[in-house]
Amino acid sequence: MKKITIAIDGYSSTGKSTVAKQLADWLEYIYVDTGAMYRALTLYSMENSLIADGFFDKESLIKKLDDIEIAFTRNTDSGKAEVTLNGKNVEKHIRTLEVSTFVSPIATVSEVRAKLVEQQQKMGASKGIVMDGRDIGTVVFPDAELKIFMTASAEERAKRRYQELLDRGDTVNYKAVLANVVERDHIDTTRADSPLVQADDAIVIDNTHTNVSDQFHTILQLAKDRI
Ligand code: C5P
Repeated sequence: MKKITIAIDGYSSTGKSTVAKQLADWLEYIYVDTGAMYRALTLYSMENSLIADGFFDKESLIKKLDDIEIAFTRNTDSGKAEVTLNGKNVEKHIRTLEVSTFVSPIATVSEVRAKLVEQQQKMGASKGIVMDGRDIGTVVFPDAELKIFMTASAEERAKRRYQELLDRGDTVNYKAVLANVVERDHIDTTRADSPLVQADDAIVIDNTHTNVSDQFHTILQLAKDRI
């Protein structure tokens, strides 16, 4: 069967990764969560004091980029891909509100994007991949056979993210989560390099009111139509 590239872009917490993982499992494709790669670089910056008290030492991060290795490893229990930073599994540390606060400013740095985009393009060189992020259909794989652009109201997305953080055991406040969602949307859509925009040939899915299962079946059918 022909293998295709599926690019799923959209705003924060629209459920991109949930549907992308389901599609990859069903199609037996590779799944890549590119947000996890930007989050791992953010964690590196936090751990190495490149971000502190509202100050971001962009030049030092750029100098260190060649020494930072971001990769994925398979969790032998769950079978899920988890992100590693210089060989250490950091999956459990990259979804905090603190990382979410700093990730979008870091993702505006062109040198950071160039490094991660190059790596993402290599991962998808043989197709048979579902990749989610902000610039997959526009920059990483402009020729992807299927492009989805996911959206939902900011309040609904913040509600989902808030619940996820509570389920992880984090102490969070809904208003802070909503503010982060709105702030990330703003930075992601207005940055100069590879802003979050809908590709001309992307299919828009607004999931404010749709359930995960309906959404999965809609996108799966779109994929089957292209295989
Ligand atoms: O997908 P997730 O919400 O985990 O992504 C975290 C952040 O990483 C986004 O808000 C965005 O700033 C950045 N990002 C990006 N390009 C991607 C994926 C994520 O700029 N392809």
